[in-house]
Amino acid sequence: MALRSIRVVEDPILRKKTREVKEINEKIKIIVEDMIETMYIEKGVGLAAPQVGILKRIFVIDIYDETGVKVFINSKITKTSGEVEGEEGCLSIPGKIGKVMRPEKITVTALNLEGEEFTMEAEGLLARAICHESDHLDGILYIDKAWDIENV
Ligand code: NI
Repeated sequence: MALRSIRVVEDPILRKKTREVKEINEKIKIIVEDMIETMYIEKGVGLAAPQVGILKRIFVIDIYDETGVKVFINSKITKTSGEVEGEEGCLSIPGKIGKVMRPEKITVTALNLEGEEFTMEAEGLLARAICHESDHLDGILYIDKAWDIENV
């Protein structure tokens, strides 16, 4: 495994649209493993492929509960309900946090690293992280939606 350098806010790659993964081959597995390692080293809750310069629909999340790391490939949020305000930061926007409104509950379908489709219902921090990382896949950063952005 290898660390990947994280692209920061001025980098235009963060604003580009990503493409679906056609085949989960060795190359994709290495990218995902590197993303997980990079997320842990940087102490992030999630990391999306564009943040390491790769325009593919992949993100990884670990909210540091007992369920461990989750890999989302070609994910789609199929249902949302409610609205909740919460604080967010982003490894690509170091030293800042802001408040963002997100759905309270979501349903997401994706492929895991084995290529198996799964559907997950999420709420709280996990739902927030999935929405934040999904936005990255469409070139959207949380600062586009945030208010009360402050330095930390
Ligand atoms: Ni982010």
